[in-house]
Amino acid sequence: MKIVRLWLVNFRNYENAVIEFAGHNLLVGLNGAGKTNILEAIDILATSRSRIAKGLNKCIRRGQSGFALNGVFASPPAGELTIAFRQERGAARTIKINDEILARSSELIGRVNSVIFLPGDLELVQGPPAARRKYLDILISQTEREYYADLQNYTRALKQRNELFKNLRSPGLPDTARNRAVGVWDEQLAEYAGRLMLKRREYLDFFARETAGLYSALGFAGAVAVRYKTDVAPDKSQNLERLASSRAEDLRFGRTHWGAHADDFEFWLDDSKAAEFCSQGQRRLLAIAFKCAEAKIKTEKLNDPPVVLVDDVLLELDAERFNQVITAIAPQSQKIFTVTDTGRFAAGLLDKLKIIKITQGKIL
Ligand SMILES: Nc1ncnc2c1ncn2[C@@H]1O[C@H](COP(=O)(O)OP(=O)(O)O)[C@@H](O)[C@H]1O
Ligand SMILES: [Mg+2]
Repeated sequence: MKIVRLWLVNFRNYENAVIEFAGHNLLVGLNGAGKTNILEAIDILATSRSRIAKGLNKCIRRGQSGFALNGVFASPPAGELTIAFRQERGAARTIKINDEILARSSELIGRVNSVIFLPGDLELVQGPPAARRKYLDILISQTEREYYADLQNYTRALKQRNELFKNLRSPGLPDTARNRAVGVWDEQLAEYAGRLMLKRREYLDFFARETAGLYSALGFAGAVAVRYKTDVAPDKSQNLERLASSRAEDLRFGRTHWGAHADDFEFWLDDSKAAEFCSQGQRRLLAIAFKCAEAKIKTEKLNDPPVVLVDDVLLELDAERFNQVITAIAPQSQKIFTVTDTGRFAAGLLDKLKIIKITQGKIL
């Protein structure tokens, strides 16, 4: 997939701007020019939300009542895909794909095939488990619709079970009625947790292989492992037993302790846990290799290389590594990089890039 054109209206610091993209692109501008905003806009077209801002209202240009984005993508052999996205302050978003209005914004998930590298990716290695789960859930939902449905069913059952426990803490309800009600949600949780776990394991196995391979292919020292941590079994009856054994504790705290919502994964370098023992530089390289693996997974699963968006993340690398990594990231993909100056690019690389200059929300 490639992005052909992006049109932004009242989005962040853009009043009205159009960008035409080539095979490889470099967004060049000073700090605060609006480079990251462009990548954020494309990511919103892919996921229907912002990974940078808490809510889409923050993306509305100051003093305006709403923003609009329009992206044209080429995805042979299907042809052209036009996504029109509107957000008015305080209202629901409106999304059109090829002029057809989507009934739900979740229908957008999986239509745009892209990968975004952000400075915040470091959180995957060293941040809280919730960030890793969210990342994995978005990624698998983009490549497999069934996973998204399973995740929604799981989340609904979990919420209902927790609410039930909160209500049950008021005394007076007989044990049999209580157990029957909880049993309904246990059945669903046990089933969906098993399905989520199997998919997460499949993806993390792929990630483990690819991240380790890329890390050494890039000439970085050390053996990388990505390890999935879960207490969920593929087998429903085993999951039901685990739920039953923590029921008393769940009742006491009013929430479910066991489940897919407690899953996590860890990065290891040689025999050290990266979050605790690696340098900042090593963690950065791990995160980059991991995101390169995401591009590879999407290429294989969707049989189409994703659009790759790279925001600043390579700034900490020395010039040699920088050029090496730039060349190695998703070789088949269209790419859009952001930089403050072109000085670090090797001449041979620079020739292949379309340079798009940006100043204060204006494309020059
Ligand atoms: N909602 C908004 N309305 C107007 N300007 C905004 C809004 N959100 C961010 N900006 C402006 O966008 C600029 C930052 O853009 P960004 O893409 O992060 O720059 P960079 O080129 O450094 O990546 C800042 O000047 C900021 O004031
Ligand atoms: Mg930026």
